[in-house]
Amino acid sequence: MKLIDIKDLNLEIDGKCLLKNIDFHINSGEIVALAGESGSGKTLTTKFILGILPERSKINCRVFEKNCDIGAVFQNAFTSLNPTVKIGHQLKKIYEGHFGNSNNWQKEVVGLLEKLGIKEAEKILKKYPHETSGGERQRVVIAGALIRSPQLLIADEVTTALDLKTKREVIELFKEIHKSTGVSILFISHDLESIKDFAQRVCVMYRGEIVEENSCEAIFKEQKHPYVKRLIELSKSLWIRGEK
Ligand SMILES: Nc1ncnc2c1ncn2[C@@H]1O[C@H](COP(=O)(O)OP(=O)(O)OP(=O)(O)O)[C@@H](O)[C@H]1O
Ligand SMILES: [Mg+2]
Repeated sequence: MKLIDIKDLNLEIDGKCLLKNIDFHINSGEIVALAGESGSGKTLTTKFILGILPERSKINCRVFEKNCDIGAVFQNAFTSLNPTVKIGHQLKKIYEGHFGNSNNWQKEVVGLLEKLGIKEAEKILKKYPHETSGGERQRVVIAGALIRSPQLLIADEVTTALDLKTKREVIELFKEIHKSTGVSILFISHDLESIKDFAQRVCVMYRGEIVEENSCEAIFKEQKHPYVKRLIELSKSLWIRGEK
């Protein structure tokens, strides 16, 4: 089943054509990567899916089907917890916002945190964000996005500005989430190398268009579009340099 199906999406803001003829879909259970350089239109595509484009946007879309609930984690999300409020309280608020009550919140949230690899989850609920490690905070933010049991999790540039080791850990975390919850993942990154052993399918955007789409394996073997070739080479060289 297709969770998201977009055909022929065109978007204009302030007279500028920012998305052109976008055909894009996500199947149930799939991990899809949306790659491309800064400004290519990845976040705008995500915002269209989430229905949070600016009001002045001119949208023209022939087909848009959304058959799922969506959880989203954005760039810098891992530092976005309120430092003055205990983690449990922050997650409880999200739970209440979704379910309209807090009857079962602790049991549900602890179960979710444990699924995400946090040991002694009850303890973490009583802590302030600064009393936890970076890895624990990542898991807490992702738990916040998963509380409503979405079928699709969108992660927009969650590895940007991280060192290679941490990048790898975040990718591993998303792999685990996929395995343990079965949630579909739309993973947005300008770094193709980072999604190599993770995504099943890759779409590459360039100047508001999807210029290439293929299975992850195929796209790394052979690139039809010269831009995609360059992007893969660049990404590879950055990782090689980072390994040294
Ligand atoms: N609210 C907005 N109003 C006007 N133009 C916008 C708006 N949001 C984005 N744009 C423009 O649309 C283009 C695509 O932006 P988008 O945020 O989708 O890029 P991106 O691929 O996510 O880049 P990055 O990797 O830097 O996050 C850019 O040229 C950007 O300046
Ligand atoms: Mg973006």
